[in-house]
Amino acid sequence: MATISKRKRPPREIKTLKEQLKIEASVFDRYVFRTVGSLMSAGIIASIDFPIKRGKESVVFRATPPPDYPAEFLAVKIYNVENSNFKRMVEYISNDPRFEVKKNRRKLVYEWVKKEYRNLLMCEEMGVLVPHPHVFKDNVLVMDFIGEGGAPSKTLFERGPANPEWEYEFLMGEVKKMYKNGFVHADLSEYNVLCGPEGKLYMIDLAQGVIKGHPFFDEWYKRDVQNINRYYEKFGVRATTTLI
Ligand SMILES: Nc1ncnc2c1ncn2[C@@H]1O[C@H](COP(=O)(O)OP(=O)(O)OP(=O)(O)O)[C@@H](O)[C@H]1O
Ligand SMILES: [Mg+2]
Repeated sequence: MATISKRKRPPREIKTLKEQLKIEASVFDRYVFRTVGSLMSAGIIASIDFPIKRGKESVVFRATPPPDYPAEFLAVKIYNVENSNFKRMVEYISNDPRFEVKKNRRKLVYEWVKKEYRNLLMCEEMGVLVPHPHVFKDNVLVMDFIGEGGAPSKTLFERGPANPEWEYEFLMGEVKKMYKNGFVHADLSEYNVLCGPEGKLYMIDLAQGVIKGHPFFDEWYKRDVQNINRYYEKFGVRATTTLI
């Protein structure tokens, strides 16, 4: 039986240079050097610029691609293999025929990254607004950088709603679109929505997402809906979405 986890401390903002260096050191083991090195040789990354945020199990960096690459910046999410929550990953990767439940922690994290990449691609194909995924390798995922003037966008939690009614309808539209196309985010909340340029809202952190056929597909859909309802109700929105 899946446990419905209570949410969740927000990811901490990165403050001092000392802390930045500590964060970088936490994910840059010898494997990551090799992986990032191969992404550099492949002409995808020219430099890792700074950590945007440390999550529970990963660090997201802003990176710069080479000059001929068709993006100004990239977001590079590096999972910390040692810190990964093996039990949670197994729970959300089981019953998904797209992936193998690996017994080895490192291999399971690599499978998890593949899952996040495939989920992003799937959502993009159904017309849901997500950062475009560029490539994944081992525990590293490269995607579109959501930000403006080189500065990363805030999460919905950090920024707060700008236009609550409209945003609620938009996000519910996205959630329903995913559901109808056989996909549930399964970790949706104000912490996993980025407020991009031009008022656009991007769903991020899709690794937990599952496809139709998963035994908790409907349960996790309802939980996503409840999280968004609960958030916007605080800002006076009449949250009416309950079922599909
Ligand atoms: N594509 C992106 N562009 C800009 N910033 C991003 C992007 N993806 C993530 N971020 C930043 O990094 C933070 C953490 O990302 P994300 O939610 O994907 O990881 P996480 O919470 O660590 O995931 P997990 O809980 O699975 O370890 C986000 O809150 C956001 O501030
Ligand atoms: Mg997150």
